[in-house]
Amino acid sequence: MTFLLNCWYLAAWTADVPVGGHLFRRIAGKPLIIARDSAGLLSALLDRCPHRFVPLSRGQIRDDKIVCAYHGIAFDLKGRCIANPHGAITSALTVPGFVVTERHHAIWVWLGDADKADPASIMDLSLMDSLPDTAQNFGYELIQANYQLCADNILDLSHADYLHPDSLGGGATTRAKQSVEETPEALTVKWLAKDDVIPPALDGIMREKGQPGDVHISVRWQAPSVMMINFGADRPHAAEPDRAETWGIHVMVPIDDKSTHYFFWTGRDKFWDADFNELVRQMTTNAFVNEDKPLLEAQQANLGDGNFEDLQPALLTIDNASVRARRRLKTMIEAETV
Ligand code: FES
Ligand SMILES: [Fe+2]
Repeated sequence: MTFLLNCWYLAAWTADVPVGGHLFRRIAGKPLIIARDSAGLLSALLDRCPHRFVPLSRGQIRDDKIVCAYHGIAFDLKGRCIANPHGAITSALTVPGFVVTERHHAIWVWLGDADKADPASIMDLSLMDSLPDTAQNFGYELIQANYQLCADNILDLSHADYLHPDSLGGGATTRAKQSVEETPEALTVKWLAKDDVIPPALDGIMREKGQPGDVHISVRWQAPSVMMINFGADRPHAAEPDRAETWGIHVMVPIDDKSTHYFFWTGRDKFWDADFNELVRQMTTNAFVNEDKPLLEAQQANLGDGNFEDLQPALLTIDNASVRARRRLKTMIEAETV
């Protein structure tokens, strides 16, 4: 499988790479070392020694230095050779690096043409900065399924009515009016269900419980698969204002064609205490890890080596956004590979 290269891939949440820390991540088939030096500067290097191509991650990484496990050549965190026990330091002894930046509590890498890397093209997730820590949760799961299957799952949220009936479902999304808007930067799918069943996860943070209301959901997608969800409800005719807004960020980063780094985040506009935040974390984790993840992995296992589109899936109106997003991504990948 070919992956988009001229784009930002979320490599880690900021908190996952402290000062002096590092982690290894395979992204779009490339093994990477994401490291932060003792001065706080980030780097992203190919996890491959330029001598015999063994993974540098098998060696030692400490004190702003990487020492290869095989023949002891040492590199700084910019990929420059700083010691060669076997001879001269030459330019061939350089570890390739990638553009890396930090935005919205996340570390992003650019695997393509460095001249095209513009951090301004990262989706605006600044909403995260406006909420207190106790109104947000960060998560990560390794999913044994293709990243586009994971993306389809969010671009068609009608699945919540069947897969998550006790938390995010209730039937409103299936009955909702759905629309898809496209701009050069993004695709947005919206659902609006008037006077319908408010999903349990929203109902729990409304003033009145168990009463119908208007349910609105939107998902903004940006290639290759960065998504911002708004999931909210409103009772416009209630005696006192009664509404709830929640947000989700879902970023699916391909490892290879059958596995995905899945980063997720949730936030909300009320109930900002730490105990409630823990309840939300448990509910979200349960829905995602115990309901979505096994289904996505079973779907991938059923596909085996088959290509999803070549197998000609039956298409429904609920697939409108995912079909368009797949088409856009395919066009972008093809434009890079000619
Ligand atoms: S393979 Fe790394 S030093 Fe030889
Ligand atoms: Fe789901």
